[in-house]
Amino acid sequence: MKKTHILLVLFAVVSMAGIMGFVLNKDATANGTTFDPRVEKLLAQMTLEEKIGQMTLYTTDWGSTGPTIREGYKNDIRKGNCGALFNSHTTAFTRELQRIAVEETRLHIPLIFGYDVIHGYKTIFPIPLGEAASWDLAAIEKSARVAGTEASAAGLHWTFAPMVDVSRDPRWGRVMEGAGEDTWLGCRIAEARVRGFQGKGIGQTDAVMACVKHYAGYGAGTAGRDYNTVDMSERFFRDYYLPPYEAAVKAGAATVMTSFNDYDGVPATGNKYLLTDILRNEWGFKGFVVTDYTSINEMVLHGVVANEKEAGELAVNAGVDMDMQSAAYQRFLAQSVKEGKVPMQAIDDAVRRILQAKFDLGLFDDPYKFCDTDREKKTILSAEHRAAARDVSRKSIVLLKNERNVLPLNRNQKVALIGPLADNKTELIGNWCAAGNFNDCVSLREGLRSAGIQTTYAKGCELDGHDKSGFAEAVKIAKAADVIVVAIGEKAQMSGEAASRTELNLPGVQEELVQELAGTGKPVVVVLMNGRPLVFPQLIGSASAILEAWWLGTETGNALTDVLLGEYNPSGKLPMSFPRSVGQVPVFYNEKSTGRPYDPNSKWTTQYIDSPNSPQYPFGFGLSYTTFEYDEPKVNRTTFKKGQTLQVLVNVKNTGSRDGEEVVQLYIRDLIGSVTRPVKELKGFQKVMIPAGQSKEIRFTITDQELSFYRRDMSFGSEPGDFDLMIGGNSAELKSVRVTMTE
Ligand code: GLC
Repeated sequence: MKKTHILLVLFAVVSMAGIMGFVLNKDATANGTTFDPRVEKLLAQMTLEEKIGQMTLYTTDWGSTGPTIREGYKNDIRKGNCGALFNSHTTAFTRELQRIAVEETRLHIPLIFGYDVIHGYKTIFPIPLGEAASWDLAAIEKSARVAGTEASAAGLHWTFAPMVDVSRDPRWGRVMEGAGEDTWLGCRIAEARVRGFQGKGIGQTDAVMACVKHYAGYGAGTAGRDYNTVDMSERFFRDYYLPPYEAAVKAGAATVMTSFNDYDGVPATGNKYLLTDILRNEWGFKGFVVTDYTSINEMVLHGVVANEKEAGELAVNAGVDMDMQSAAYQRFLAQSVKEGKVPMQAIDDAVRRILQAKFDLGLFDDPYKFCDTDREKKTILSAEHRAAARDVSRKSIVLLKNERNVLPLNRNQKVALIGPLADNKTELIGNWCAAGNFNDCVSLREGLRSAGIQTTYAKGCELDGHDKSGFAEAVKIAKAADVIVVAIGEKAQMSGEAASRTELNLPGVQEELVQELAGTGKPVVVVLMNGRPLVFPQLIGSASAILEAWWLGTETGNALTDVLLGEYNPSGKLPMSFPRSVGQVPVFYNEKSTGRPYDPNSKWTTQYIDSPNSPQYPFGFGLSYTTFEYDEPKVNRTTFKKGQTLQVLVNVKNTGSRDGEEVVQLYIRDLIGSVTRPVKELKGFQKVMIPAGQSKEIRFTITDQELSFYRRDMSFGSEPGDFDLMIGGNSAELKSVRVTMTE
């Protein structure tokens, strides 16, 4: 073939590839996402300033969840300075704001409305740590489903949830928002919450976009102090802290929120390794990334940039699409682009992802589709939603002690109801309670009354302070009763954001009140309402029974009454270890052996001289009004090849006189690894109802996934060798069988 022909053919091939490339990529960007053609069409019409406006999120003055607040958000909308607002809800308010965006701006781009709907919008469910104690994924999904339904009925498109930050440190107030100390349980709960919020898919009028937060590692703040530095090995980070974010992303979460903390010396909000290398390139995340509240600006205080303009450049180049409340993008990004410090491609990619979300929500077809006042009236705080809240709430309650079966109460007992939370409503919806109104709550006293239980009542003391003047009245009614129910705990604002504590005791004189009441010789049932694991050494000896009730939300009184009267047999299990003292923190179940594992017969082993190593109550612990017995676990093969699945099964018998649900837990130990491995890790659980006197066979299938970890060379996978498979009703009482995996 002549040279000219070869050149012509080459030219044709190259041109065709170019055209094809344009045609294929006209809707795609660097990470291969395909966008609605309307996104490109709109993007092509936008000025740089309008694009940056879409990358900006402001709060309204309907609430503040951070250190700063801006005036004039309506003018920001008119000028195209923001593409989304948060802390704005109800159909009336969102319709008003949406009208401004759609009618008074050049391109009529609708707004997205976000809000922290963490455990309910108006019908408030247990705090997420409480829900995690249910170990009931269907119940947890239902809770998020109701929250998504009510939020979307109130004009909202987006919730800043689920929070999936694993944490071993109850000094950190935000443990109340998460799923506790365990990675595997955290992954399953993250998936359930994303499914619940997003329902049948973004665009449905009863669904909201989920937002996985706080990416990443926020629960590992040094010393349990909020916003503090996070530093750990990449192995530990990937094995222990990252998986729940990945699980939520793989469950289809529409958005991700960056965390305040730094990781490995780089603030998450400017961390390209987290936001692009892992989130986009490893996990294939296609949605958009929003920062936490002013966390772009805060990178100046972190000391990694000199000013807020550089902070904006670091954030957008790392992969942050939307700036929450710092206005760094709005003020400086256009200049940064003109200076060549930020490529236009980065701006276009961010805006594409944000516009795509708006198209997915259907807002370009009908900006007011979520502003249906009839649906709002019919949906919010409906009887069906309250019933769902009552069900999830009672499933979240953990029975920690029940001496001489003092619970359940019987109806003809004279009950003395005592304590600062016995007749209280204001604290019951906990922190991060969105549009919840404590007046909608059922107090414990009301719940008992509506169940026909007459009680005498005395407050006894306040939640804090040292005034004991109420003790006498409390003791007086206690002496006249058959049984005492005392409701105590923390103030709701003592947990949540910016609420770290150095002590974990019950505030005030509440524990002394319990001791005084126990002094009457009457059985004392303690109901704890709190947002984190607490330490209560005196109370444990004084109380005959202890119920961990967290903050149960709108239906608190009814849910607690159902359990106190035995209408519902408590089935909750602790999602976090309860320490004996704050000096033990962090205390957790999946510790490593060390070279000197604890030996009671040798001082030269890992231990304290003033406390046992074990927690007061271990991860996975919770009693029932019945009892369960576990046979020895059995396997379908004791030796198996890498890649083969393994079946392990156990027979569980309800040996009591009441039907009851049991959370059968599977833990695995890899006895020898290329790196040190935990003495046990949760790798499965099944919550099953077993009728009184009957048995159930519970079966788990184990694949290579459950045996995999980040090995010495940082590759992820399993290693041949011996494993102990352990099954039981909590992490400290397990029966074990050994198996061997060969190459
Ligand atoms: C807060 C929280 C975050 C929340 C956001 C918006 O500072 O850290 O969880 O979603 O601001 O309210």
